Amino acid sequence: MPAQVMPDNTLQGLHVLGRENNSSPHPRRVEGKIAIVTGGARGIGEATVRLFARHGAKEVIADVEDTLGAALANSLSSSVTFFHCDVSQEEDIENLISSTVSRYGRLDILFSNAGVLGNQKKHKSILDFNVDEFDDVMRVNVRGMALGIKHAARAMIPRGGVGCIISTASVAGVMGGLGPHAYTASKHAIVGLTKNTACELGRFGIKVNCISPFGVATPMLVNAWRSDDEEDDESPEQVEKTEEFVRGLANLKGPTSRAKDIAEAALYLASDESKYVRGHNLVVDGGITTSRNYVSL
Ligand SMILES: NC(=O)c1ccc[n+]([C@@H]2O[C@H](COP(=O)([O-])OP(=O)(O)OC[C@H]3O[C@@H](n4cnc5c(N)ncnc54)[C@H](O)[C@@H]3O)[C@@H](O)[C@H]2O)c1
Repeated sequence: MPAQVMPDNTLQGLHVLGRENNSSPHPRRVEGKIAIVTGGARGIGEATVRLFARHGAKEVIADVEDTLGAALANSLSSSVTFFHCDVSQEEDIENLISSTVSRYGRLDILFSNAGVLGNQKKHKSILDFNVDEFDDVMRVNVRGMALGIKHAARAMIPRGGVGCIISTASVAGVMGGLGPHAYTASKHAIVGLTKNTACELGRFGIKVNCISPFGVATPMLVNAWRSDDEEDDESPEQVEKTEEFVRGLANLKGPTSRAKDIAEAALYLASDESKYVRGHNLVVDGGITTSRNYVSL
């Protein structure tokens, strides 16, 4: 008797498990949404493009790195395309958003992620403050994000404000001592811009938030301390060295910060799961901005 009952029970168990697998564990969280990812050719942007694609989005990669961006788009489905765009140029941003809207009929998500660090070595001290470099960093990091919000909102408002805008700030936008001066100023500005535009655009239903990563071994961070005359080196050894350095600084011990972790934060903010989250700075930093020094904990 038990020999007959057991297989039935087992089958029934498998059937139930199968049903659960189909319905919930891996839902496609941005299915059918139209998304633009700036700075999407590599690093955090690339990881986000890949993750959004797996979750069913139709995407436009916007970047100045044409070869990398086009290769990434070609390696994914026909639902991912590349568009050359320098985010600091208003005309480029306007063209990016209008061509996305003409192709797909609307824009649901802008992940405004393109950014530059500036020269960490040469102009480290405020005593060596360089106006041109400051302007270059602000032009991409702040002007670029503001232009993105402006033109994305213009496209979203006529549709009844259905849409979501996420910008990449940084832990350098939360506290001092974590990046060069111009970069730190620019990232603080992005957090402010996010809060202010969230106030204005909330009434139209547009969701505006930002993400503040810490220490992801992308080309930006791996080459951060190299001077102009040194070749970039993104070899696995350099990546590992950078990750080790970051692990040493983070308050959370164990996990390694990866681009995919930031992409997951962007996916949350892009999905309907965050429908009530506005003007938020989602810090993904292994606790570095929580505390460096603590007593009796
Ligand atoms: N890597 C980190 O540890 C870290 C930490 C905090 C914040 N961030 C932020 O994350 C974002 C992505 O950085 P990443 O680490 O992936 O760096 P990355 O240098 O690997 O990627 C940046 C991408 O932005 C593109 N880009 C630069 N200037 C552009 C412009 N004017 N127009 C369009 N595209 C442009 C680059 O071509 C590149 O593809 C940046 O805003 C950066 O400040 C990174």
